Amino acid sequence: MNSYFELNISINPCMEDIVSDICFTNFDCEGVVLAEETYKDLEMISTTEGTLRVFLTSLDKNPYEVLKTERELLKSRGFSDEELGSWEITVDEKENQDWSKKWKEKWTVTNVTERITVVPGWIEYKPKPEEITITLDPGCAFGTGTHQTTQLCMKALEKYMKKGDTLADIGTGSGILAILGLKLGAKSAYGCDIDDTVIDVCYENAEKNGFSNNDALVFELNTADKINQKYDFVCANILHNVLYEIMGDLKNIMKDNAILSLSGILDEKKQIVLDAIERENLKIIDTITQDQWVSFVVLRT
Ligand SMILES: C[S@@+](CC[C@H](N)C(=O)[O-])C[C@H]1O[C@@H](n2cnc3c(N)ncnc32)[C@H](O)[C@@H]1O
Repeated sequence: MNSYFELNISINPCMEDIVSDICFTNFDCEGVVLAEETYKDLEMISTTEGTLRVFLTSLDKNPYEVLKTERELLKSRGFSDEELGSWEITVDEKENQDWSKKWKEKWTVTNVTERITVVPGWIEYKPKPEEITITLDPGCAFGTGTHQTTQLCMKALEKYMKKGDTLADIGTGSGILAILGLKLGAKSAYGCDIDDTVIDVCYENAEKNGFSNNDALVFELNTADKINQKYDFVCANILHNVLYEIMGDLKNIMKDNAILSLSGILDEKKQIVLDAIERENLKIIDTITQDQWVSFVVLRT
């Protein structure tokens, strides 16, 4: 490869995962980095712009058009201009450097809780006794363990999943939550996603964590409404509007007394998810927050 493209998008930092997801879905995207310098103060988070730097191996689609269409879609779903940020973009073609390393530089060992640590595949790490490590190379899939929404689900899994539970992870991305579930003692873990490109990444990550050819860990292209099985624990880290739409499907795959960990919810959008929880008669047993993100742990009674 002789060159790569660097797309810089001015966003409200709250939109990091949503815009990242758009880029991974539409472009030959190798990684993203959010430049944090301008929004250190979380008080300022909804009024200050950050820059999402996106590394592309090729540029087949016009990024201006793609982002314009996606922005209009988000606005039709209720996002305001302030919540989105300006989405001004610049595109630079760069001489080939070790571009794949460039975004990796920013991702290092993440201590999610006292016991759980996520380690990038290219870093050698010696865990402490009792420490659970997850080794990951997210490829083009969401879920490096650094994002608050992922961490909220990881915390819920650690606190509420019982050893021997069956686990379903809807919107599995890199497979991180399903893999953690097995490491925490789940009897089986099932991860599904609507993005077919992530399934291979999930299996590669499973292998990195010692679960190759393991019948207890299955990943596939699927959605909750097509699943016929019921589980003890379900997690779904997906956008609030998707959670609203699929809450009934999530409930249907829960056994009686099963627990559901819901994440991907900006504090200012939580009412939408709360409405769906109420609609489905699910009972909130815990609310966990991290920065501007909120997650609900709910019970099917
Ligand atoms: C925010 S990522 C979460 C990835 C990972 N579970 C984590 O916690 O880091 C959301 C994932 O959900 C997938 N997704 C979106 N809508 C979905 C749906 N209706 N059913 C299943 N997966 C969906 C996306 O493709 C994406 O991989």
